[in-house]
Parts: sequence; C-alpha cells; structure tokens
Amino acid sequence: MCTKILQTTHLNCSLTIQQINDYSQIIKELHNRLETTNDLTGWLHYPEQNHEELLFQIEQIAAEIRQEADVLIVVGVGGSFLGARAILDALTPYFGRQMQGIEVIYVGQNMSGAYINQLLKYIVDKRVYVNVISKSGGTMEPALAFRVMRQYMEAKYGEDAQHRIIVTTDAEKGILKALADKSGYRQFVIPDNIGGRFSVLTPVGLLPVAVADIDIRALLAGAKQAAVELANPNLEENDAYKYAVMRHILYKQGYSIELLASFEPSLNKFHEWWKQLFGESEGKEKKGLYPSTVNFSTDLHAIGQFIQDGSPILFETLLHFKSIEPDFMVSFDNRDEDCLNYLAGRTFNEINAISKQGTALAHAEGGVPVIQLELPRLDAFHLGYLIYFFMKACAMSAYLLDVNPFDQPGVEAYKRKMLELLRE
Ligand code: PA5
Repeated sequence: MCTKILQTTHLNCSLTIQQINDYSQIIKELHNRLETTNDLTGWLHYPEQNHEELLFQIEQIAAEIRQEADVLIVVGVGGSFLGARAILDALTPYFGRQMQGIEVIYVGQNMSGAYINQLLKYIVDKRVYVNVISKSGGTMEPALAFRVMRQYMEAKYGEDAQHRIIVTTDAEKGILKALADKSGYRQFVIPDNIGGRFSVLTPVGLLPVAVADIDIRALLAGAKQAAVELANPNLEENDAYKYAVMRHILYKQGYSIELLASFEPSLNKFHEWWKQLFGESEGKEKKGLYPSTVNFSTDLHAIGQFIQDGSPILFETLLHFKSIEPDFMVSFDNRDEDCLNYLAGRTFNEINAISKQGTALAHAEGGVPVIQLELPRLDAFHLGYLIYFFMKACAMSAYLLDVNPFDQPGVEAYKRKMLELLRE
C-alpha cells in the first residue's frame, strides 16, 4: 500500500465530501489548462528534470563560499529572497545560525537606511561573498542595495571583488545581466519560464541554501516526488487540488482570510514565503483570500481570542510535521512544586502535538473551519515536497478564481508611483 507523504484533512467545516467532489470535472479541465498553457509554468516539471551539472556547480561554489567567507550577503526581494530565507530558517538551528561557520544575511528586501548602515558596520571585519538575485534585474530595492554592496566589495577587495560577487538573473535580459557580463561576475540563470515566487527550487533558492550546507538534492528529490504524485488530475487522489478546492469553497462561503498556522517557530519565515505565493498569485480583480499567518503557542496568547471568538471571517490551515528533531523530554521532579509531574516522561514535541490537536478541536468547535496538512518529518526532502505542494495548489486556486496566478499587476502600480515621485 502506498502511504501519502502529505495528508490533507478537515475538521468541522461546512465542507462535505460531496461538495469537494463536485469540483472533479472542473479540476480536470483546469489541470489540462495548467499543463498546456505557455504561461510561466516552467516550475511544474522543473524538479523532474536532470539538473546534475547545475547542482554540481552550485555545490562547488557553495563549498568555496564556506571556505572563503564568514558571511554570505543575499541581495533580493520578494520571490528572489523569501524562499531561501524560508528554507534556511526551517532547517538550520535556532541559536547561532551560522552553518559551518557561515552566516547568511539578507539585504535589498527593505530600504531602511539604518539596516544598511548597521549591516556594513557588522561585516567590517568579516570575510564577505555577495549573491545578488533579481530576475528582472531592475527592481529598485535590491538594485539600490547591490550598488552599496558592490562599492563596498570593491573598496574592500579591489579586483578580487569580481570573484566574490555571484549574480543570479535572467539568461539574456536586464540591467543586472548586462552589468554582470561587463564586470565578469559568475552567474546563475533564472529560467525564463519561471516567475519569482515560483523560483525557490532554482538557483534563486538553491545557492544560498547550499551555502548553509542544506542538502539541495534532498530538497529537489522531495519536490520531484510531489511533482510526480500531484500530476494526477483526479481530485480525490490529489491533495494539492483537494486543498485548493477546500479553500475555494470556504472563500465562496464568505470566509475571506486564510490563516496558515504552525506550532514550530522555525517555520515563521516559511509562512512568509507562503503568504507571498498566495497573496501575489490570487489577490487580483477584487478577488482572493487574504493570506495571513500565525505561530502557536505564541499567537494563541495574542490572536487566539480573535480566532476562537471574533468575527467569523477566517479559516485556519494547520501545518504539522509529525517529527521535528531534536526533541526534549520533561523529567520527573521530586518536589513537584509546579504540579507538572503528570507530564514527566513526555517530550515537548508530544505535548506540542497534543496542543495542536486541542487547538484544532477548540477552533472547530468555535465555528472556525480547520484544514490540516500533515507531513511525517521536518527535513529537506519533506520541505521540498511541501514547497511544490503549495505552488501546485496555489496555481490551481488562482485558476479556480479565474485569475492569472503568474502576474502581479498590482505590484507594478506602486513601483510606477514611487519612480514618478523619485524622479520629480
Ligand atoms: O513573485 C514575483 O515575481 C515577485 O515577488 C518578484 O520576485 C520580486 O518583485 C522581485 O523581482 P526581481 O527578481 O525581478 O527583482
């Protein structure tokens, strides 16, 4: 018998099996559309392709950076930043996040003068490499940050700066591409048919993640397994499509906010990646669920009251990894002054999982629909699987709303206004 990697279930919900299955035919049609469109769907089969040469190159440069640098500065924003940070935070230790002696720092995701000022001071005595990532090569925030970093690197390393700056961009187009060619920087290509928020499994995410010594082959293997399993057009057997349909039905029932919830703080940045993926793909033409996130237990003591009892506008998607290493066991205490001996012998993760169960039941009883996504383990393989799962579900969700998942016209609007003002 084949056991599914990811199980999608739901609690309470005004969702019936019949309601979900009513979408079987439309899902088949939309599946065919996704498979045959000429839009930015290069990510769909990317994990199934052979990337041996690319992976080898990435691993070599990553090893070089670990050897030659104390800090890797990743310059990027949106899809050129969130994915790498999500994987790094999920798979590296909570404390002393320097993997193999190297620290990954991000810049270009904001335009805070204080941030860049303090960053330059922080790295003054450190050995630095820079990876600038931009598909268009012209986004204001990373372009500005890269101007600063490039000048800094040239002042610090002279000619050797050329060797310490790695560019990840389009194969042909853009200011960054032209600049990289002229300066002789080493380059990785973002495939033309893969948009920013769907690009985490390309060199965009793979290089920074490999520098932190995360197993990029396991990550891609997980995504490949998902690509194969979730290529099934049959709704009943495809959990990504099931998740897309469930959230679509809830949206149509009037729930306007989806809360992605986890019980593991290392997933906070993964939440941010998810939020961008769904927000930028679905929020168009006055349609779409507002993607929001919470991390429990922290947020149970902050926003838990609202979720349980506030305006009935949200549903919850609970993300749960059954095993997260390492764990910690509660020990017996002869004094038992805190009256917690009844928990002795249980691990924190066991208690956390029971808290998750209790929370789901309480929220469901409070009338909050709860969707649960469950995976066996938090590691590179399963995270790769989950990333692909969400990308597939997201594309299908946008198709169900009849909006284009692969553009972001609303983001362009702010850029135009900002440029107008800056040029005045
Ligand atoms: O998903 C997207 O396309 C965006 O979030 C982009 O990734 C983001 O705007 C950065 O763009 P670029 O990589 O062109 O600098």
